[in-house]
Formats: sequence, structure tokens, C-alpha cells
Amino acid sequence: MMKIDIVTVFPRMFEGFLGESMVSRAVRMGKAEIAVRNLRDYSADRRRRVDDKPFSGGPGMLMTPQPWFSAVEACLAEGEVPSAGGATRVVMLTPAGMPYGQRKAEEFAACGHLVFICGHYEGIDARVNTLVTDFVSMGDFVLTGGEIPAAAVVDSVVRLLPGVLGGGEEATANESFNADGLLEAPQYTHPPEFRGMKVPEVLLSGDHAKIGAWKKRAALDFTRKMRPDLLGGDGKAAGK
Ligand SMILES: C[S@@+](CC[C@H](N)C(=O)[O-])C[C@H]1O[C@@H](n2cnc3c(N)ncnc32)[C@H](O)[C@@H]1O
Repeated sequence: MMKIDIVTVFPRMFEGFLGESMVSRAVRMGKAEIAVRNLRDYSADRRRRVDDKPFSGGPGMLMTPQPWFSAVEACLAEGEVPSAGGATRVVMLTPAGMPYGQRKAEEFAACGHLVFICGHYEGIDARVNTLVTDFVSMGDFVLTGGEIPAAAVVDSVVRLLPGVLGGGEEATANESFNADGLLEAPQYTHPPEFRGMKVPEVLLSGDHAKIGAWKKRAALDFTRKMRPDLLGGDGKAAGK
């Protein structure tokens, strides 16, 4: 069972997300245990304040270190569950982190305990960085808070836990960004023809060898069209 702690000043942002789809299924199946903790509960301030003006001046408020240290230390102390295999990671969502990707999701999925630090306002006092094992960014843009990135990371990790997706390992084996470094080939369902657009004939043939060969070719063509940056200079994907 993977243990996940999410620390935030806006715990209600996770209500809908945690109650639906694969994440709630993983919790119901006992594959993951997810706790959303309100940072204010760890503030030593009598008015539960978690922010203050930055010493460097400028607009906005910065999150103070004390509530973060108390919250993360509580997560680490309570996270020592014997059933949790693998290591604990403390993940800060920040635009300064490395852009998130499937390799990182796989790495996190092998851990026993993940603690997410969701910043807000102008960000977090830099001393909190000493608690962190992984700095993760959603990309080169600035969001209002770390809650949406944390939700994205949790979703991407939980669906990789064995047994969570129906269809076994095959369900994630042929997806985009796997070891072959390619996007998944385009897929089709019924009807075989829609508004004059036909499903490629080979996919209706039932010939699995031919379909397999078509998928490989189509994945390469699709990657070249949509994400040429994933292909090396020789036009081949990194893992090929
Ligand atoms: C308004 S942002 C602070 C931005 C900070 N002042 C800066 O310029 O880097 C508030 C919080 O949103 C989260 N955040 C914003 N953009 C993000 C991104 N691209 N990836 C991950 N987290 C992000 C972080 O947790 C951050 O502490």
C-alpha cells in the first residue's frame, strides 16, 4: 500500500479529485492511502497564520518555514507504516523544479510514501527546500498554487500501481512515453466509417501480426508529426 500525504492551505481543492475515477478506485482497492493535511493545523501562530512579508520586499506574502517543518515532520513520523515498501520522497511542486515526466512517475510509483508540498501565494521560504528530495515542475509557466500539479502527479503515479488499471500490465505498457520513447499510435473505435473518414483497413483485419506492425509504424509517424522533439537527430526515438 502506498501512503500519500498532501499538505496544502486549500484542502477542499482535492475533494472532487480524490472522490472520482482511478484515484478513488486505488484507495477503495487498498492500493493507496491518501491524506490531505491543512498546513494551518501545523501553525504555531495563535491565528493559524502560515505567511508573512518577504524580507526582500515586493508584493505578496511568502509562506513561513515553521508550519512546513512541523507538517512534513508529522507526515514522516506517521508515514512509517510497516506495509509501505520503498523509500519516502518529499516532493515540492514548484516552477523551479525539473519538468515532470513519465520516468519520474515510474520512480515515484516504486516508493512507499510520498509527501507533497503545495505552495501558494508568492511561494515558500527557501529554508523549506532542505526538507525536499524532489523539486517537480508542471512546465515553464506559473500557477497560483501547487494543488493542481500535486493532483496531476498523484494521478499519474496511482494509475501505475499494480492492479489499479483494469487490463493488467498491458494497460500501461503500450502508452505514450514508455521505454520506446514514442507516443501511442492513433486509435479508433466504432463506427468503421464516420463522415467519410475510414478506420485504417488493417485494424479491421483481425491479423494481429499486421496490426502490431502497423501500430509500430503509426506510432513513429505520429510522434514525428506531433512531437518531433522526442525523436533523436536520426529520426529514431531514444529507446529504439
Ligand atoms: C504563484 S506561485 C509562486 C511563483 C514564484 N513566485 C516564482 O516566481 O517562481 C505559487 C505556488 O504555485 C506552485 N506552482 C506554480 N507554478 C508551478 C509549476 N509550473 N509547477 C509546479 N508548481 C507550481 C508552487 O507550489 C508555488 O509555490
